[in-house]
Amino acid sequence: MIDRLLQEQAAFEAALSAVDDEDGLYRLQVAFLGKKGSITGLSKQMGALSPAERKSLGAELNRVKDAIAAAIEGRRVALLDAARSRDLARVEDLTMPPLQAPIGTLHPLTLARRALEKTFRRMGFDVAEGPHVEHGAYNFDALNIAANHPARDMQDTFFVRPRAGQPPTELVLRTHTSPVQVRTMLDGGRPPPIRVIAPGTVFRVDDDATHSPMFHQIEGLYVDRGVTMADLKATLLQFTSAFFGRSLAVRLRPSYFPFVEPGAECDMQCPFCQRARGGVCAVCKGSGWIELGGAGMVHPAVFEAVGIDPEIYTGWAFGFGIDRMAMLMYEIPDLRLMFDGDVRFLRGFAG
Ligand code: PHE
Repeated sequence: MIDRLLQEQAAFEAALSAVDDEDGLYRLQVAFLGKKGSITGLSKQMGALSPAERKSLGAELNRVKDAIAAAIEGRRVALLDAARSRDLARVEDLTMPPLQAPIGTLHPLTLARRALEKTFRRMGFDVAEGPHVEHGAYNFDALNIAANHPARDMQDTFFVRPRAGQPPTELVLRTHTSPVQVRTMLDGGRPPPIRVIAPGTVFRVDDDATHSPMFHQIEGLYVDRGVTMADLKATLLQFTSAFFGRSLAVRLRPSYFPFVEPGAECDMQCPFCQRARGGVCAVCKGSGWIELGGAGMVHPAVFEAVGIDPEIYTGWAFGFGIDRMAMLMYEIPDLRLMFDGDVRFLRGFAG
């Protein structure tokens, strides 16, 4: 019987080394130690032995039983450990800090546009918008820009071919935000008084260090009874002091735009001159003035084109570039930096 016991033990050890999962281990446990297991079978035969034999065999039987039970338990722990290590190995390194969700920053132009909108909203202006692809009729005709005006030249304007089957209207990438004036005044829900600004993207065939084919303007329009050029100047003065935090002079120089009469170029006193430190101010090149853009009193022909009676109403409009304003605000040296989309540059404007 001792021999059989030792054979069973050897058989168990051989079988155990082939086991590689918990199921197999459980089947092994049943086969040897279960109710009908081989070791259990042997212990049942002990009754037929003499007391002396029973004693020595009993001790041996217990030793083998314990050894088998311990081996099974040991393997079970090893299998569990291995399974856990496999689970853990599926992630690269649990001690690694979590990935930071990348948080974007606002583009300097967006920051500048929002600051402008906020300033004008406080002054009672609404914010209006228009499409980038605009009717020639709104971009030119209603603004009193004649058919032979150079702005309508292919050299200056991106013309858009209407889709096949669409009426052959003249379509352009808007060359300025002034068509939003037309759209706002045509809007039946908005009879005078009208007070809007319209910031947005505009397009011209232009590309060098200081001109981009795509740039941004902010249009202003104020129409009511008795509006004069003095209102324009007062609004600009109020705007510059609200925007730059201190009062700055504004200068109007006579100029020509077909949709205003009289028309003017607007300049603002350079807010950076005190940084010149004895030398010439790098921002205004020592002139003391910074160009804002065009402005003037809305031309009666424009009022007529949108159905507003120029005998009753007058108004002013302006159109300023905002790219340059953002460059001034954030001291950006090159216009193209704003449109290159280089995140190393853009990351500098968190906030
Ligand atoms: N639209 C003109 C331009 O782009 C600027 C302007 C706007 C001038 C409003 C006068 C009045 O140059």
